[in-house]
Amino acid sequence: MKIKAGILGCTGAVGQKLVSLLSAHPDFEITEIAASENSAGKKYVEAVNWKEQTQIPDSVKSMTVKKCEPELDAEILFSGLDSSVAGKIEADFAKAGYIVVSNSKNHRMEEDVPLVIPEVNAEHFNLIDIQKKRWNSGGFIVTNPNCSTIALAISLYPIHKKFGISKVMVTTMQAISGAGYPGVPSLDILGNVIPHIKDEEEKIQTETQKILGNYENGKINFAGIKVSAACNRVPVRDGHTLSVSVELIKKASKEEIIKSFNQIENFGYAFSPEKVIEYTDDPYRPQPLLDGNLDKGMRVTTGNLRKCNILDWKFTALGHNTIRGAAGAAILNAEWLIHNGYTERKKK
Ligand SMILES: NC(=O)c1ccc[n+]([C@@H]2O[C@H](COP(=O)([O-])OP(=O)(O)OC[C@H]3O[C@@H](n4cnc5c(N)ncnc54)[C@H](OP(=O)(O)O)[C@@H]3O)[C@@H](O)[C@H]2O)c1
Repeated sequence: MKIKAGILGCTGAVGQKLVSLLSAHPDFEITEIAASENSAGKKYVEAVNWKEQTQIPDSVKSMTVKKCEPELDAEILFSGLDSSVAGKIEADFAKAGYIVVSNSKNHRMEEDVPLVIPEVNAEHFNLIDIQKKRWNSGGFIVTNPNCSTIALAISLYPIHKKFGISKVMVTTMQAISGAGYPGVPSLDILGNVIPHIKDEEEKIQTETQKILGNYENGKINFAGIKVSAACNRVPVRDGHTLSVSVELIKKASKEEIIKSFNQIENFGYAFSPEKVIEYTDDPYRPQPLLDGNLDKGMRVTTGNLRKCNILDWKFTALGHNTIRGAAGAAILNAEWLIHNGYTERKKK
């Protein structure tokens, strides 16, 4: 039996990706779509400025967009809400007993909210039981990290687990779709690089600590890695590329690091990538155009591992920002919830 799923922020960049991916998902049925008051009351096809490279799914085209109020016929809500409104709306849904799987930054760093990538820190889902006491409704919020942090944390995790990481320097080259629609004006980004993305460096620096931290006695002990991020918006449509340097606690060879990339566990869920990380030997890769969509857009590709003259090793990592970094990440978190018995919604 499929689980009733609603999409909050269904008209946005992440919302459209959620509509596209969930409409073909074996475990979910889209029963509700919701967005701002400007869109509410309209048919989806009229409310949305569709930018996906597939057609609007027939099952969603004529659905009516609702307001983001907790009266929706859904067991689980996928949120692609603008962060200016996500905080209160998502909390209202959790309070009313819904499961909220969110892409927004608002609740990520709260002590009792899991900030999760199943293949990296599934034990952080244990925070759900603590958070449930806050809402006292059966509802709860689970979040996925910021789009560039996901690719970074996935590529760091196997190295950190095996050898320990003390310092990270990361420079990002982030796609335009990461800014939503219409995002950055074309005259600002075509043939250009913009060396600042608001709040992005802070998100990478703090979220990485939480994700790579340990769950112990109901709390996350942050990883204590020094992370320095420099973020750039580049004229790429989809796919965030990261140039990463790491200092290790236990020294490792190139072969040992590449081997660790291959050892990250695939959960085998419907939306899991076959390979969570693939290391490529081609020094001209990964590239967003060639590697961004591999494995349904859920694979992180690493490459060009070489000695760093300042820290120990440097490499390139690439992740699809609206799939692995957003909609696909939320779907994988929801699949984890199904597989671990969390999806029966109990109203107050
Ligand atoms: N794009 C990415 O790669 C990416 C990656 C990771 C995380 N995120 C995060 O995901 C969230 C969505 O990002 P996006 O890029 O999809 O943004 P977006 O394209 O600007 O979409 C924002 C969505 O929020 C809705 N919304 C705005 N104001 C609202 C209100 N007052 N009440 C209810 N709904 C409202 C919009 O509905 P209307 O159309 O009706 O205004 C739209 O559906 C953000 O928090 C973002 O930081 C984005």
